[in-house]
Amino acid sequence: MKIILASDHAGLELRKALVDLLQEKGHAFQDVGPTTSDSVDYPDFARTVARAVAAGEFTHGVLVCGTGIGMSIAANKYRGVRAALCSTEFEARMAREHNDANVLCLGQRVIGPGVAKGILEAFLATAFAGGKHARRVQMIRDAESESQR
Ligand code: RB5
Repeated sequence: MKIILASDHAGLELRKALVDLLQEKGHAFQDVGPTTSDSVDYPDFARTVARAVAAGEFTHGVLVCGTGIGMSIAANKYRGVRAALCSTEFEARMAREHNDANVLCLGQRVIGPGVAKGILEAFLATAFAGGKHARRVQMIRDAESESQR
């Protein structure tokens, strides 16, 4: 398991809390910023994480912005990325089990660090269930190909 994280300025503090958790748990990760609270554009950071996950350089991506919405919209533009915006552990488990989500999006203005840490742990601990869900995920891949024609 190899994780890449990023945020924008509105997700900076929550991202730092998640980095602390990953360190505590001994996970391999790369934090690609930003390092200051200066205003930045979330699509730039979504792009970095989405491209790295899509290329197979990382197994899981984590993106934090104010709501998590902009990050999830932007990340899902990249082929092979299945980004899930979650605000509960249940959603994080389902996103992995049913959707094989490979990027977790969180909103710092929506949830606190305790809830977010639980969500990230659930996301990392849950495996894709496969079976009928694999067929459906393949349908999403087919839709990606179709939309590029
Ligand atoms: C930044 O103000 C905010 O728009 C951004 O963090 C995010 O919530 C966008 O979806």
